[in-house]
Amino acid sequence: MALDSLERVERTHHCGQLRPSDGGQEVVLMGWVAKRRDLGHLIFIDLRDREGVTQVLFNPDQSPEAHQKAKGLRSEYVIMVRGRVLQRDPETVNPAIGTGEIEVLATSLLLLNESKTPPFPIEDDISTSEDLRLKYRYLDLRRPGLSHNFKLRHQATMAVRRFLDSQGFYEIETPFLTKSTPEGARDYLVPSRLHAGGFYALPQSPQLFKQLLMVGGMDKYFQIVRCFRDEDLRADRQPEFTQIDIEMSFAHPETVFRVVEPMMAEIFKLTGHRIQTPFPRIPYEEAIARYGTDKPDTRFGLELVDFSQCLGQTEFPPFRNALEDGGQVKGIRVPGCSGYSRKQLDDLTAAARVFGAHTLAYLKVLDPGVQSPLLKHLGESGCRGLAQQAGAEPGDLILLVSGSRKVVADSLSAVRLQLARQESLIDLQANHFLWVTQFPMFEYDETEKRHVACHHPFTSPMEEDIPRLESHPGSVRARAYDLVLNGVEIGGGSIRIHRQDLQSKVFRALALGEEEAQLRFGFFLEALEYGVPPHGGIALGLDRIVMLLTGDSSIRDVIAFPKTARAVDLMADCPTLVDQKQLDELGIRLADKSLD
Ligand code: AMO
Repeated sequence: MALDSLERVERTHHCGQLRPSDGGQEVVLMGWVAKRRDLGHLIFIDLRDREGVTQVLFNPDQSPEAHQKAKGLRSEYVIMVRGRVLQRDPETVNPAIGTGEIEVLATSLLLLNESKTPPFPIEDDISTSEDLRLKYRYLDLRRPGLSHNFKLRHQATMAVRRFLDSQGFYEIETPFLTKSTPEGARDYLVPSRLHAGGFYALPQSPQLFKQLLMVGGMDKYFQIVRCFRDEDLRADRQPEFTQIDIEMSFAHPETVFRVVEPMMAEIFKLTGHRIQTPFPRIPYEEAIARYGTDKPDTRFGLELVDFSQCLGQTEFPPFRNALEDGGQVKGIRVPGCSGYSRKQLDDLTAAARVFGAHTLAYLKVLDPGVQSPLLKHLGESGCRGLAQQAGAEPGDLILLVSGSRKVVADSLSAVRLQLARQESLIDLQANHFLWVTQFPMFEYDETEKRHVACHHPFTSPMEEDIPRLESHPGSVRARAYDLVLNGVEIGGGSIRIHRQDLQSKVFRALALGEEEAQLRFGFFLEALEYGVPPHGGIALGLDRIVMLLTGDSSIRDVIAFPKTARAVDLMADCPTLVDQKQLDELGIRLADKSLD
């Protein structure tokens, strides 16, 4: 069909806008043909744009020319329709869409562009593979669900900007072409043409720069900033993602919390949620003890019970060995689930085994007595002791794991989540925020045979733990905190080291030699000599926050052009090989020319 020109025609309304009160008005709509029904005499079009869908009616009695043209329309053709708003008859009202009480009777039609038949229907709830949707992401973005996600994402970033501006923060950009930053993942490297053999690194976060902004007297900084990390991907991780990055001078953890809490409340107001502040705070050790994880979902109970003490005298080898080796025996009381079948118990055991548990023992509390394979090892009174420790009542089920502290925590945390899902214990409307504080400063890296920083090496230890930095580094706690929402880590930060003597001590505890520290962070260490104010901050994962806002289960659904789990852009088809000429200019010779 011949295409028309838009010329000077202006759109008067979006496709989600018209209501019965607009009846009789002459309007101009533009958008994509979502559906066409040709009833012979009458033709109906569902016209879609970002804001919604409007039904357009072509009647030859009204405009024979527009009706004739409408016969040629196909899915995803781009059109302009001029017409009059009519109120629909009550029996034809469509309550599923906002504009369902009206339709537009077309008086003229411009065909602005044609379209090939799209490779999948432009609708929500389609079963098309994600790979195909990512290849044609620009079509995927036309689906109402995704369109809504990006509206919300935009609103969230605007709410953040407004809020932080009102609190006196400056939005300041930091470099993308920089030097390796200290977040612990692998860097994406960028070769330099002017300095062949030299590489920039894309920032894993603006950590050092935001601290330098505090040295520079900027006082309160934020940035909504892309970060790059070459790490193994999961549903909530992308190689490039966006942080709401914040840093403040003269701050304690509570100073940071007092900024972040009302900001989160502002963001969640967008979806009609009233967020209670302040958020609960819980030290890391307590989170592990009660939930087996440092990012607990606190929308439900099922807290862990420690049986180590009441099993102190046991001769039962799996329990005794675990306790003798410094491990634990812990469990979960599951109210009202003593009727669990073999299959249900086996499924939970499988979840525990993924995290190294040898098995998942069970104890069913009946009325009277107990039923458990542990009876023959612990006796009736031993089992009753466990039930009592767990505060169990008849009808309850107790699940137990023994082993190292890590195995017990990780496996019971997984079992706890699986139980909550299968027993529908999670209130999907609830938003449970939680600050997890006092993280350990270091963890021991078995492969490197030395302590490494849990957060990053510029995190301040807790004042009272500083004397143990060199003698017992494993016991030192950091002034670091994470923000957790419904079991997802949505942010992390800390109070930083602002004194050079303390920074040197921490480097020594990390077995980071003077020379290596100078090489990696020399510019930063030098800055520590010029009057650094006490400071701290946080970075929040914007993608994860928007994912929780929209209720999606993957951050790919809230990133316009995401990469696959193998870090591939299926649409642009990259990474790719590059021309030899380009490599020559950069002074790079490849060992092997294949991509995989
Ligand atoms: P951290 O590494 O904890 O801290 O990152 C902060 C938050 O960023 C989000 N996040 C990610 N989101 C998507 N994909 C990823 N690959 C990814 N990695 C992290 C998470 C996380 O909580 N510089 C410090 C912050 C500070 O100390 O101020 C930092 O980057 O939601």
